[in-house]
Amino acid sequence: MIFNMFKVYNKNSCPLKELENNSVDSLITDPPYGISYQHNYWDKDLPKKEIWENSLLKVKPGGFGLVFSSVRLMHRLMVDLEDSGFLIKDVLFWSYLNGMPKSRNVGLLIDNELGVESEKAGEYKYVQGYKKDGADNYKTEHKHKLTPSSDIGKKYDGAGLGVKPAYEPIILIQKPLEKGLNIAQNILKFGTGSLNFEGSRLPYEKGEGKVGHNPHEKGRVPANIIRTDEFNDGYDKFFLVPKVRQHKEDFNFHPTLKPVGLMHQLVNLATFENQTVLDPFMGSGSTGIACIELKREFVGYELDESYYKIAERRLEAIIKTPKLF
Ligand SMILES: C[S@@+](CC[C@H](N)C(=O)[O-])C[C@H]1O[C@@H](n2cnc3c(N)ncnc32)[C@H](O)[C@@H]1O
Repeated sequence: MIFNMFKVYNKNSCPLKELENNSVDSLITDPPYGISYQHNYWDKDLPKKEIWENSLLKVKPGGFGLVFSSVRLMHRLMVDLEDSGFLIKDVLFWSYLNGMPKSRNVGLLIDNELGVESEKAGEYKYVQGYKKDGADNYKTEHKHKLTPSSDIGKKYDGAGLGVKPAYEPIILIQKPLEKGLNIAQNILKFGTGSLNFEGSRLPYEKGEGKVGHNPHEKGRVPANIIRTDEFNDGYDKFFLVPKVRQHKEDFNFHPTLKPVGLMHQLVNLATFENQTVLDPFMGSGSTGIACIELKREFVGYELDESYYKIAERRLEAIIKTPKLF
């Protein structure tokens, strides 16, 4: 489907044949993390390096990119990006409060290993699942709350296997400037080569302490920590983006939906108005929505037809009822 402000393709983004070389200003994407998140079939592996090599060709010299990743595998993704020719400039941390640790009570595992029955200590409501195709797929069961019975199990009661996740890394990359050009010459030739700090300043909150001797009237420049939710710890250096509560929009069942507010920050940082953003893994289209709202052109690819249709629907809706910022 091709509109003025966006072009989206229901196909594998590996070849990127529809795009001319040096035709997009920025690469902003949330690819598979390769961790089989919630057993999603598309998340078994990291993307092939070829996708990054082809993306590099499409981005203009000096163009910046922002690529989401996971704490466990960002090192591999960074190597792939670098080996494909991108420069690694920074890693932004998108920080939030409502991540859940994937863990087990080690004390109960020990009881089980010893063949000892753990003690029942009340009940709790267990909710599993999410909305698919607009239908509620939640399963609720009452489960017994257990505590370890064996002495060694009691010692390890509550011990776990992983800390609560509170951030996701976003790798800031750049395609090298054209050989022989300095930054100014590269910008004059391609319009790419710098981050858009003035377009991504974050207004101060009312009554908030200002940083530095001469605080800018439009707010602070973005930091490499992007915070979600409100942290009441007195820090005022970071910007806040509320984490999306899954399935705010009924029809959107994408399991790794990114908040549009967060995508706004990234689009504002990496691009200027009327520039073009490529997302080779668009999912339900959150990058595209932010682009349209911020007057950027968008090119997106999504392999899965059901996610593609959600993206198309969300993008069409935003074109019909724009909420331009
Ligand atoms: C992490 S999700 C993106 C979610 C998106 N940020 C959102 O807010 O909806 C990654 C997406 O990439 C898609 N994908 C995986 N491999 C692909 C490929 N080779 N070409 C196009 N899409 C692909 C998956 O189907 C999945 O929807």
